[in-house]
Amino acid sequence: MFHSVASHAASAEGPSLAARLASRFQVGTCVGGVLPGSLDPAERSLLTRHFNVLTPENCMKPGPIHPTLEGFDFTAGDALVRFAAEHRMAVVGHCLCWHQQSPAWMFEAGVGREAALEQLRAHIHGVVGHYRGRIQGWDVVNEAVADEGEDLRDTPAGRAIGPAYIERAFEFARDADPGAELYYNDYNIERPAKRERTLRLLKRLLDNGTRVDGVGIQGHWLLDQVPFDDIRAAIDAYAALGLKVMITELDLDVVDRPDCGADIALQRAYAPNEDVYRDGLPEPIAQRQAAQYARLFQLFGERVGAVTRVSFWGLHDGKSWLNSWPGKRTNHPLLFDRACRAKLAFDAVLAGPEGAP
Ligand code: G3I
Repeated sequence: MFHSVASHAASAEGPSLAARLASRFQVGTCVGGVLPGSLDPAERSLLTRHFNVLTPENCMKPGPIHPTLEGFDFTAGDALVRFAAEHRMAVVGHCLCWHQQSPAWMFEAGVGREAALEQLRAHIHGVVGHYRGRIQGWDVVNEAVADEGEDLRDTPAGRAIGPAYIERAFEFARDADPGAELYYNDYNIERPAKRERTLRLLKRLLDNGTRVDGVGIQGHWLLDQVPFDDIRAAIDAYAALGLKVMITELDLDVVDRPDCGADIALQRAYAPNEDVYRDGLPEPIAQRQAAQYARLFQLFGERVGAVTRVSFWGLHDGKSWLNSWPGKRTNHPLLFDRACRAKLAFDAVLAGPEGAP
């Protein structure tokens, strides 16, 4: 195992990121696999020391949790919720309605509108009801806004039910656990055109009385291309609707890719000579990444009250989805390296708006 040149072992003993930022917003990460077995001891101490809210990376998505019409599989989700309770961490449920990782049966071609609605209702009531009282909030609808053109993405749910599938999903979730917050979550919704489309959707929901509590800006950004001004404007625009704003899937990709999006349908092969950081992250890159993370947290800190949570999409570099999307490569997008050592980015975020630790 290698680790980046610019990293140190302060992760398990030094200051806690979540504790340091607790007066501003929650700090979270996603976790994959079945807890705690999918983590080694170093990972476990990293997770419990630096984060106070967990998002399941995959196990609560419609496909894994509800693979057949009759059958739910709560194994991994239950383990995560139990682990979080034992460590006094909150849980964000992710996600109830998405065009990816959705079981084919839910909106299969030819299903009638009423049958599709009933299947969506049964899914949401089954999952949200199972976790009632134990989940802080749900990503109710994920990535429904189109990347270009029309406002809404063409999805199986939309084709089966029509655009009102979004309102219905929020209503089903509200009814199944009135105490849970309800979020809309998407990528690139800080960018002006997609932001406008997202604002139109959220206004539509709020105007017709649909309860929506928050919006998640995923935050899959690229080194040297972080759209700081767009992010600031987006936070302000969503907060102006009265919504909580969350950065829900933060990472800072250091290997070039064509787009800042997160559409997993887009794939790209990386030749061996394009896997440029397979032997580690060079210090100058680690420094730039640290500076850009610091600027991001500075910005989030300036929006205290509007931004209520910042969650990373992965515990450490070795666990990031960006090692396999849009193609296989070695990535270093997070605050901790593969050996669970704190990177320069960790120090920079910790120093954050309050100055050096
Ligand atoms: O579980 C199967 C396993 O049984 C099978 O052998 C293996 C073979 O490929 O695949 C496994 O499933 C993979 C799954 O992750 C669990 O590891 C899928 O192929 C893979 O596509 C899936 O990727 C996830 C991706 O969402 C698609 O659902 C990533 O881990 C996850 O990080 C990513 O997360 C999404 C958010 O939910 C929404 N926003 C974008 C973000 C990044 O794409």
